[in-house]
Amino acid sequence: MQAHRAAILWFDPHADTPVPHYEADGLLVLAPDAQDTQCVVAVGPYRDVAARHPGVPVQHHPDRLIAPGFVDLHIHYPQTDVIGSPAEGLLPWLEHYTFPHEARLADPAYAGAVAEVFLDELQRHGVTTALTFATSHPGSVDALLSRAERRGLRLVAGKVLQDRHSPDGVRDQTEQSLLDTEALIRRWHGRGRLGYAITPRFAPSCSDAQMRGAGELAARHPDVWVQSHVAENLDEVRWVRELYPRARSYLGVYADFGLLRERAVYAHCIHLDDTDRALLRDTGTAAAVSPTSNLFLGSGFFDHASADRAGFRYGLASDVGGGTSFSPFHTMLAAYYVGRAGVTGSGSAKTGLSLAPSHLWWQHTAGAARAMGLGGVVGSLAPGAEADWLLLNPQATPLMARRTGQAQNLEELLFALIVLGDDRAVERVAVAGAVVPPG
Ligand code: GUN
Ligand code: ZN
Repeated sequence: MQAHRAAILWFDPHADTPVPHYEADGLLVLAPDAQDTQCVVAVGPYRDVAARHPGVPVQHHPDRLIAPGFVDLHIHYPQTDVIGSPAEGLLPWLEHYTFPHEARLADPAYAGAVAEVFLDELQRHGVTTALTFATSHPGSVDALLSRAERRGLRLVAGKVLQDRHSPDGVRDQTEQSLLDTEALIRRWHGRGRLGYAITPRFAPSCSDAQMRGAGELAARHPDVWVQSHVAENLDEVRWVRELYPRARSYLGVYADFGLLRERAVYAHCIHLDDTDRALLRDTGTAAAVSPTSNLFLGSGFFDHASADRAGFRYGLASDVGGGTSFSPFHTMLAAYYVGRAGVTGSGSAKTGLSLAPSHLWWQHTAGAARAMGLGGVVGSLAPGAEADWLLLNPQATPLMARRTGQAQNLEELLFALIVLGDDRAVERVAVAGAVVPPG
């Protein structure tokens, strides 16, 4: 057993909306479970929790904030080196930068090198759980998940399915792609902290047969994740309408193939209508909101107010490399900007609840975990949860020290961190999983 004393932020893992808990002088008590994963035994005011756990050695972290590790709901590890590639929009960006780059991951040595950098960046920025795309090459999944396992990280990844409208080097073969997916599910899903996601890239890049196969796999493996993109860009939406003239909507295409369900996470969800939003809610499908990507590629603005009205699950994501940063602080700030733009556009003077700092933080921790079907497992630091935790330094820069020093309450403190914070504020990242030596 071990215990850490500092200011602590944690979340009720089961609430539909954020219930932040904060102790200015708190104690987090941890112990390994049967798999050697560190879990939270107790959290709360130092005095009470210490009295209930006599004899447990306590590390004291004065002037620091303990917070749950961040959860990134949508990211592309092969696009680590694509960040900052400007284009007119999504489709030219895919054609000119992304597909040619992803073709390089056919080489396992290159994929391994990118995976190391990617995992370093996640950890440096305090991201301890991620739902990530690999490339269409099955070896790209092995390259990533074998390394995540050694680090004890909770990672979910999938081989991309794309058997049409894709260039040589990334295009896969329908039948083989489904066999590869099945083999990867068997190899990786549920191994330690790792998981597999069935990953049709997006409707335009998958034939009917590949989509049908993906839907059948999703039905046979209900605890495996599904991840894709939907309604990101208007040219993309028009293209899908041409390809599927009989579908009710772009999201409806995925519904028709049985790809909307719990543990299905769709990036972007910008150009939806209220029927789509109700479909997300009713199927338990989640949206991965990716504001830095949407701003960088000029895709549009996620509608927080309509999402809250409809009541479907969503959480925050970097979408690197359309997204511009691994930093959850940058993503939370971009979500705030986007939400503000929406509020001003609708003529209301009030920002919605989902733009409160503790809500933005929840969307990148416990809320994102809940959207992934991992509520209570990660992102909360509540008793029983896996103990991926961060030691944040609110004094990491002179300006942060000045500003956070004047915060009068939790919301002000979190807002100052969201606006001024980055990896300099992440002093230590504790990963709950046992570290597996290479072998
Ligand atoms: N749609 C299909 N593929 C991609 C991708 O790699 N990134 C983004 N942002 N959208 C996509
Ligand atoms: Zn994406």
